[in-house]
Formats: sequence, C-alpha cells, structure tokens
Amino acid sequence: YPIKRPSELDWSFAGPFGSWDLAQLQRGYKVYREVCSACHSMNLVAFRNLEALGFSSEQIDTHAAEFTVQDGPNDQGEMFERPATASDYMPAPYPNPAAAAVANNGAVPPDLSLIAKARAVERGFPTFVFDIFTQYAESGPDYIHALLTGYEEEVPEGTEVMDGTYYNPYFISSAALAMAQPLYEDSVEYTDGSPQTVEQYSRDVSAFLMWAAEPHLTERKATGFVTMIFLIVFAVLMFLVKRRVWAGTP
Ligand code: HEM
Repeated sequence: YPIKRPSELDWSFAGPFGSWDLAQLQRGYKVYREVCSACHSMNLVAFRNLEALGFSSEQIDTHAAEFTVQDGPNDQGEMFERPATASDYMPAPYPNPAAAAVANNGAVPPDLSLIAKARAVERGFPTFVFDIFTQYAESGPDYIHALLTGYEEEVPEGTEVMDGTYYNPYFISSAALAMAQPLYEDSVEYTDGSPQTVEQYSRDVSAFLMWAAEPHLTERKATGFVTMIFLIVFAVLMFLVKRRVWAGTP
C-alpha cells in the first residue's frame, strides 16, 4: 500500500522565533473536548494547565466543575465521585484499555497527551543537521493534520481494507485505521469567526496537541537559539585565546 507523506505546513510555533497562537490553541482544545475526547484520553494534562492557553483561573474552575472524577477512599473506605477541580487531570472516556477496545472494534484509541511527539518523524542525514538551526519540530502536527484531513472514499485497487477500518493513505502503520473520520464541516462551533472547516479544525487541534505534548516548546527554542549564539561566540573567543597562548611556540 502506498503511504503518503504529510505536507509541511506553516505553524506559528515553528522556528527559533515561533510563538503559540493562543486563540488557535483555545479552538484546538474545544475540538479535542467536543470531538476527540469521546474516545481519546489525555492523562498527562490537568485542567490547571489550560491557564497557559490564556484561560483565567475562574474560567478553569467553572470548566473543570462540569466534569466528574472518581476519588477516595473516604473515611468509610469507599470510593466516591465528585466534581473535578483545576488540579485534576482530564478524565478519560473509558475506565481502562480493555473497555476502550470493546467500544472501538478491538482497537484502543491512543492517549493524546504526547501523540504530537510520538508521531514526529526522525529525518535522516543531511536534513537533521539543518534542523538544529531551523529548530524543526513540526512533523508531529503535520502528521496529525494530514491524518485528520486525509480520509479517502476511493480505495486504490489491490489495497485491502479490513471490516471496521477506514482507508487513509497517511496512516503510518497500514492502509486503514480503526478511527473513522472524526471531523466534518461545522462539527464544532467557533465563536471567533474562524472557518468551521475540516481543514481549520485539523490545524487547530494539531497545534493544541503539539502544545499538550511540549508546553515549553517555544521557551526551549528561544533558549536554544541564545545558546547556539553563545556557543559560536565562545568558540571564536577560545580560538583567539588559543592562538594568543600558543603564539611564538615552535
Ligand atoms: C487513533 C487523533 C477522534 C478513535 C488516533 C491517532 C490519532 C488520533 C493521532 C493515532 C494514529 C496513529 O497511530 O498514527 C484523533 C483526533 C481526534 C480523534 C485529533 C479528534 C479530532 C477520535 C474519535 C474516535 C477515535 C471521536 C472514536 C469514535 C480512534 C481509534 C484509534 C485512533 C480507535 C486507533 C486506530 C488504529 O490504531 O487503528 N486518533 N482522534 N478518534 N482514534 Fe482518534
């Protein structure tokens, strides 16, 4: 089966001077919440982390209180349910992977906390040498975007698609995956006037998943950039010092 390569998109967080587009991350979270979270957990992200997307702590408290989490044991040794608070992690849609598999035709929807890093491709020589300077880190969101927008009705001749799976030439491990196309036009309501298209939803949720997987991405790149400049200046200085120290040595 032919695997298509995701196209490389422009992301606001790309490059050493990149920054998060907070409005986009908020839209992406809305898409995750209203669509993806029906099947996918996000176990490493707590409600309080959403403050980084520009939500106030009051907004987060109100939002978290809409969810119910398991807690306990209490004084009587019983487990109980209570409304979530900002310090709780996002509740998962299924209690365990077995239940997730039963509900999804035997396939377990992966946890999305780190998926943008987990699906990042390693680029071979010589590209990775330049990647150090351009600080390339976008292959994960490129892949997620390609996957979400890449479902095709027409299955090429000779390609086998098992029952309960859906043809998608961008999927990395076979020709079809157990996730049906999750996003359609107008699936999620945007209040900021952004287009309610599959393309826009996919971009937004991919950017959000990149943030979730590496919330300090932009700080890390900024620090990396300053470090590279420092190392270059330091190397030149050390070279000059070496010439001075060894001057006149036969
Ligand atoms: C797999 C993203 C919604 C069920 C995946 C994968 C990603 C993903 C990145 C991994 C693909 C890979 O292994 O390379 C999303 C996003 C969603 C979404 C961003 C929301 C926009 C859903 C929904 C369902 C679902 C609503 C259930 C109805 C699954 C399943 C798999 C999967 C069962 C495993 C597929 C397999 O390995 O064959 N999803 N998903 N997803 N997703 Fe989703």
